[in-house]
Amino acid sequence: MIIDVSDTGKGISKQNIAKVFKPGFTTKKRGWGLGLSLSRRIIEQYHKGHLTVKYSEPGKGTTFRIVLKK
Ligand SMILES: Nc1ncnc2c1ncn2[C@@H]1O[C@H](COP(=O)(O)OP(=O)(O)OP(=O)(O)O)[C@@H](O)[C@H]1O
Ligand SMILES: [Mg+2]
Repeated sequence: MIIDVSDTGKGISKQNIAKVFKPGFTTKKRGWGLGLSLSRRIIEQYHKGHLTVKYSEPGKGTTFRIVLKK
């Protein structure tokens, strides 16, 4: 099963795509940098699935992909 979640937000720069799942990485003034690392942990460890950035372009938006086994 594949779930793609897209937004039309500010996007993620190429260099940051590799970092967004790292615990503590944030570009927000008051961010904890926990949302995506926790999401990936739950999807990978609990559901044996995958969470990745499928597409992102600064100024255009982002698509995250969740892959789960049947
Ligand atoms: N949908 C998105 N569009 C653009 N950038 C994003 C998106 N989701 C995450 N990011 C980038 O990835 C970083 C890490 O996201 P994450 O959710 O792990 O932490 P956070 O949102 O900064 O803080 P927290 O979720 O802990 O409050 C964000 O600070 C932002 O730079
Ligand atoms: Mg977050």
